[in-house]
Amino acid sequence: MGKPSAPRPPAVPDQKTAADLASVLPMTATVKDGHLFIGGVDTVELAHEAGTALYVMDEQHIRHQLREYVKWTRYHWKDVDVIYAGKAFLSLQMARLVAEEGCSLLCASGGELAYAIRAEFPMERVQVHGNNKTDYELEECVDAGVGRLVVDSLFEMDRLSAIAEARGVKQSILIRVTPGIEADTHDFIQTGQEDSKFGFGLAEGLAMRAVKHALELPGIDLAGLHMHIGSQIFALHSFSAAIEVAVHFMQEIRDETGHTIRELDTGGGLGIAYGLPDEPSTIKDYGKVVVDGIKEHCEEHGLPVPKMMVEPGRSIVANAGVTLYTVGSIKEIPNIRTYVAVDGGMSDNIRPSLYDAHYEALIANKADKPREMIATVAGKHCESGDILVHDAPLQCPESGDILCVCATGAYCQSMSSNYNKQVRPGVVFVNEGEWRWTVKRETYADLMAQDVE
Ligand code: LLP
Repeated sequence: MGKPSAPRPPAVPDQKTAADLASVLPMTATVKDGHLFIGGVDTVELAHEAGTALYVMDEQHIRHQLREYVKWTRYHWKDVDVIYAGKAFLSLQMARLVAEEGCSLLCASGGELAYAIRAEFPMERVQVHGNNKTDYELEECVDAGVGRLVVDSLFEMDRLSAIAEARGVKQSILIRVTPGIEADTHDFIQTGQEDSKFGFGLAEGLAMRAVKHALELPGIDLAGLHMHIGSQIFALHSFSAAIEVAVHFMQEIRDETGHTIRELDTGGGLGIAYGLPDEPSTIKDYGKVVVDGIKEHCEEHGLPVPKMMVEPGRSIVANAGVTLYTVGSIKEIPNIRTYVAVDGGMSDNIRPSLYDAHYEALIANKADKPREMIATVAGKHCESGDILVHDAPLQCPESGDILCVCATGAYCQSMSSNYNKQVRPGVVFVNEGEWRWTVKRETYADLMAQDVE
């Protein structure tokens, strides 16, 4: 299985229709009368009614992915918590959906925590991480009563202990360790290697020093360890290697301090299919590798099996989502390429510019037609690099068509911006033939809401 960021061969018209794109589309995607339907909703009608650009998310797909994680992790060990990483996509309805599915929520900032609070997410099921939480954020976490805080530095640990002590409580924490594993993914989204801004390295004894320090602090209850080796990982051996290192460290902790680590959080990171050649591992296989891996290594070391946590983000929402755009100008530059411009771009999907990410596209009102040309889908921003899809197969486009970019449910809306004072698209959930806003499209008034006259 190739590295997800490996260069792709030059594209050729592949004659594929929407029916051939199932691996990158939401699970309820179908084609009727030439139109792409998601969640029983005609995306072409939806685009005309709700306007474009528009993020569309398949509720059934999201729930299915959460259930797959719960099923295939608890299949191997009863005590596993599935913690959805809200950074991939978060709205109030999304937080409530995660709670309804019995999963927990991972927040990466005070802002994400504010969503959890407003959505009345059960606070004992909220975990907060981040490499540089402010005092204010630490206070918010303790005051809200978050279940676990992932501690990233000694500087933070001391401040957190003081904040908790001042309130007469002990805050449960996980210590983030960097296992020294280079995950098989894009360099920018690797996090488990020794040279990382995240966590405590094992090599120089930094992590052990953090553990000993935590055991001495009055405001801290050391529940366990946390790691996250990266994102969009295809090869499960990266997870196995990190787990081996982490469990070995659990044994060193017991031997040196007598303290038993009760919880082990292995982070998120499972990759998804953005392009047709992508073959990510399944949640079923991931569950087996992670959970059995922890159990086996604990047995080897004579350690009790800890409560386990996994933190998927992308693999819950990425393929649940698509972005719909309206095609505007079409520029054919002879012998070079055809640019198909849409009413969005890098402000609603920065991933192609930032990571050279590849996406599949199709025309929603020609979903039963073959992709018989190669086109480059360009955004409307004042940057040459504002390209959503480079030289990829597409049905022959005409201005006014509804163009669908697949697998945009993760890290697109959550990383969106107002560059060029572009209003951010809304997000709709579709389910059983109905659609509803989960985040409304911004207005010009929203753009200026914080401006001072
Ligand atoms: N846990 C921690 C501590 C994380 O930092 C992350 C993602 C996750 C869980 C969820 O990982 P996932 O299952 O989604 O791979 N903006 C980049 C991705 C950055 C991921 C950051 N951390 C992208 O668009 O590819």
